[in-house]
Amino acid sequence: MQSLVDFDFILFGATGDLAMRKIFPSLYKAYENGLLSPKGRIIATSRSKLDSHEFKKAVELKSKIHIKKGNQKKWEEFIQNISYLPIELTQADDFKMLQEKISTQSSNIIVYFSISPEFFIQACRNLALVGLSDERVKIVLEKPLGMDLKSCQDINNEIAKYYKEEQVYRIDHYLGKESIQNLLVLRAFNPVFASLWDRKHVKSVEISVFETLGVESRGEFYDATGALRDMVQNHILQILSLVAMDIPQNLDAHSIRKAKLKLLKSLKPLNDEELSHRIIRAQYSKSADFKAYIDEDYVNKQSQTETFVALRVQIANEKWDNVPFYLRTGKRMAESFAQIIISFKNEHLKEYTNHLTIRLQPDNQLSLNLRIKKTGRAMQTDERMLHFNLDNPFIRIMQPYERLILDVIEGNQTCFNHKEELEAAWSYIDPILHHWQANKSPLFYYPAGSWGPSEAFKLIQKDGNEWHN
Ligand code: BG6
Repeated sequence: MQSLVDFDFILFGATGDLAMRKIFPSLYKAYENGLLSPKGRIIATSRSKLDSHEFKKAVELKSKIHIKKGNQKKWEEFIQNISYLPIELTQADDFKMLQEKISTQSSNIIVYFSISPEFFIQACRNLALVGLSDERVKIVLEKPLGMDLKSCQDINNEIAKYYKEEQVYRIDHYLGKESIQNLLVLRAFNPVFASLWDRKHVKSVEISVFETLGVESRGEFYDATGALRDMVQNHILQILSLVAMDIPQNLDAHSIRKAKLKLLKSLKPLNDEELSHRIIRAQYSKSADFKAYIDEDYVNKQSQTETFVALRVQIANEKWDNVPFYLRTGKRMAESFAQIIISFKNEHLKEYTNHLTIRLQPDNQLSLNLRIKKTGRAMQTDERMLHFNLDNPFIRIMQPYERLILDVIEGNQTCFNHKEELEAAWSYIDPILHHWQANKSPLFYYPAGSWGPSEAFKLIQKDGNEWHN
């Protein structure tokens, strides 16, 4: 059996939504399944003036409901390992108290920032002031990292003053999903795909991530962020890079990150004409079942924030030149799903195409439509689906945060973003933000609970293609 690695896990933003919904339940599940060292200590911090007892009661109330099939005895053991310390991020003295809580014996100190990125720099400075920046420390940064290229670079540069790149773990929880990791395996280990994966054979690629949920209680964050920053800059460009990158010889962290970076750097910047016509932004409006985005809590009534984006991306390299990649994401859509569809060219009978559908969520599935001969004397054809589930129903599926936290504890950076990847992604996104800020393209509307604005359909129909819903 693999020996478990000891750790001190310091969580900033411990009373926040993400901590309660994802981080504590993930730590617990890892503990319950014997994947977390029982000697590991969790030091929770936030601005709230609570003692450890009060904090544990809050975790009991807000986190436990997000745990499926918990075990009371294990939960009680787990919660023993949590202590709480109120910290003002601007108060260097508070960091001194934190440092005193860390044993000099600790050799694996994880500092998880589940806080707004505007506080990352201040918190790192104060950690360094009390000596918590040596090689024992790993810093985990939640997305979005910055609001644009400049703010992302500022954070990366400032953090680099205190921590080496090997100590920094930039989370994109999509990279911790089983289905996303499977993408790499599908491509790398199945030569049938490798030989068809280029502009000679692929007609178009479609990546959709739809949610039926609205902005829930996150109106304030979302209104300042929007779908482009919240989903496209990170999750969707990461999926795109895994679909389109060259598969490296070695599948180690360094080589995979390098391949993704190369791909992100080859995204063809949208010119002015494309910024106006190849990207659609929209916001959900009132429908019979749902309220409008602007009526959500903590959202500005005049808000121009987009809750939906659809765009056509081009990759400027030999492999993908002229193959359109259509990306779209939205909140309050008709259905929740994430999928990639690769459509293949048919040189002879253009109207017949094979679509390889890689369903990422809610289920992890693969399907391919095939045309076969209809049984009978006449030479007629029919369509059939090759379809299968990729998950083993007898094996527990680890949630992304659980896997990623275990990776940090064990020091595996494969599923985390290198700073250059994020900067390359922001370089692509920045001109879009500027174009929108200058009001150079309209904000469209779609009824909440629908398939999005009609303009998104026109975007793809212009090329003679269709979205697959
Ligand atoms: C988060 C976004 O990163 O991803 C949320 O901030 C979004 O707005 C969420 O709802 C979607 O994640 P998942 O795993 O539910 O697809």
